[in-house]
Amino acid sequence: MPVHVVADDPAKLVSVRKLLEPRFAVTSELLRGASVQRGDVTALVIRADLRTLENIHALKKIIRALSKVRKRVFLVDATAHLHVSQAYALGATRVLLGPLDRTTLFAELSEPVAGGEAAAGQGQGSQVAAAVGEAALASMFTAVATGLPIDIQSARSAGSHIADSIAETGLADWLTTVRRHHEGTYQHCLLVTGIAVDFGLSLGVTKADIERLYSAAMFHDVGKAKIPLEILDKPGKLDDHERALIETHPVAGYEVLKNNNQVSPEILDAVRHHHEYLDGSGYPDGLSNGRIADIVRILTISDIFAALIENRRYRSPMSREDAYGILKGMHGKLEKPLVAAFRDVALNR
Ligand SMILES: [Fe+2]
Ligand SMILES: [Fe+2]
Repeated sequence: MPVHVVADDPAKLVSVRKLLEPRFAVTSELLRGASVQRGDVTALVIRADLRTLENIHALKKIIRALSKVRKRVFLVDATAHLHVSQAYALGATRVLLGPLDRTTLFAELSEPVAGGEAAAGQGQGSQVAAAVGEAALASMFTAVATGLPIDIQSARSAGSHIADSIAETGLADWLTTVRRHHEGTYQHCLLVTGIAVDFGLSLGVTKADIERLYSAAMFHDVGKAKIPLEILDKPGKLDDHERALIETHPVAGYEVLKNNNQVSPEILDAVRHHHEYLDGSGYPDGLSNGRIADIVRILTISDIFAALIENRRYRSPMSREDAYGILKGMHGKLEKPLVAAFRDVALNR
């Protein structure tokens, strides 16, 4: 597969070329460098500082010129929400974070391209819905991190797109697509949204409730935009301080959304209370039984299940069976009949 590499300095260019050659046929160019002949390539690999406007303008030009290239992998060194969302705003199909890693990059480049021959007929709808969802989440997280207004409507319509995709191709297809192509908090939010929608569909809730579910799921972890990625994506156990910081996210999300008149009280309630348990042992308010709304109970089950089956770089994903086993073992914390009803979603759908 011919790959075109773009970087904003010669050292970065060399480091990426070294990684890819000789496995891939590589052409390359320096961002804002001399003009080059770009061959017939099937993937673009970009490693550049996405904070400078000059780089962004130059990248836009190259991406436009190579608009037929369907795979655009961005290698981002800095672990900040802003860089990740900037990459997606530029049209990244995948963002790989942290130090260069040959295995991950090879795996990504070897994946069939969405809409390409190998993927024809399957998963395309879900790939588009996931890309739309990721872009909406990225823009929302950036807005929260930088204190800019949140585009509520985009997040909601991305949720609706995801709901359509689930109704059309089912949950299994969604889980496969999202776990293969997305990472970290965005992967999590996309999974929760799909699972919550499918749970709602299996319960036969109204269309209005499906809308509430996907909106609540898209917004539920937006408070994590205030937490450094090093902590959110930390492999292994968190220390007490890190855990306490993570546990601030429901209130942080509530605070950024509470004065927005496009966000209904039910959605706000779900954002604030999706980590509460029926026995009062959850956070942030230690609510118990009667004070946790139905939609929040559905969201909480979907959220825990999604977290368990996520695909993380440092551990293999748990099987759906094992994850459901854990939910069933959470005695007193989750609504028993609801967990029983979730069985079909968890294992079969
Ligand atoms: Fe959460
Ligand atoms: Fe969550």
